Amino acid sequence: MTEWITLSETLYGEAYVDELSDLLRQHDVKTVLECGCGGGHVLYGLAKQGFSCVGVDDCAEAIESANRRYTHPNLRYLHRNWLDTPDLGTSDSVICRGNSLSCVASWDGRLDHKKAEDAIRGSIKCFSDRLREGGLLYLDTTSESEIQSGGRTIQVDSGSFHLTGRTKNELETRTRRTWGDGEIDGERFSVRSISYLITPDDIIGSLQACGMHTVWNPHLRTEPNYQIICAIK
Ligand SMILES: C[S@@+](CC[C@H](N)C(=O)[O-])C[C@H]1O[C@@H](n2cnc3c(N)ncnc32)[C@H](O)[C@@H]1O
Repeated sequence: MTEWITLSETLYGEAYVDELSDLLRQHDVKTVLECGCGGGHVLYGLAKQGFSCVGVDDCAEAIESANRRYTHPNLRYLHRNWLDTPDLGTSDSVICRGNSLSCVASWDGRLDHKKAEDAIRGSIKCFSDRLREGGLLYLDTTSESEIQSGGRTIQVDSGSFHLTGRTKNELETRTRRTWGDGEIDGERFSVRSISYLITPDDIIGSLQACGMHTVWNPHLRTEPNYQIICAIK
């Protein structure tokens, strides 16, 4: 988990938070719920910019790290499954980014299309329920171009963080594999993950099923890894 948190912090720094803040402000957002907040650094950046933020993640290690490293008066974290958040009421914006949605549909070596489709649809319905009328939903997933080309290479060299890896997408089996080897502060590590390949069209279909018909793909210069999909409730 630590490697994923460091990778995310390396890829999504202040410039990303600034662009995301601008997008949120354009839609009158003051309160943000992040579903799958991981180590919390993006939400922390938003809290510093004046947004009132709540982050939920069902990984105890991620929430523990967020509470240790990224606290702010505008921000609280909950160790929670995002499917179990009715008591949180509604926010101006719900964000689920860094390809977090694919985690809910991961499977342990066996492909179960039905389970994955239900998990994605159920999650998007939950996000919609947590939004006020007129609120902004921000999601991301593997881009159409990366799906078409079958995958991409990953090369990250920033400070003492180095990673070389690849993604491989198989549309027929809906399989997305990510693997890489790297070094943090001179310590070697390896990352391997397998998840259900969610297409932008899957997400758009689920959004429309929730009655969210204003759907578009904002382009953020600082988001080269995933396709962003936004919708208004
Ligand atoms: C790929 S990580 C991205 C984390 C963070 N958004 C970032 O970009 O650094 C996905 C996160 O979603 C969390 N997650 C997946 N399914 C979840 C669920 N149903 N409820 C809460 N958290 C979930 C995982 O624990 C993990 O921290």
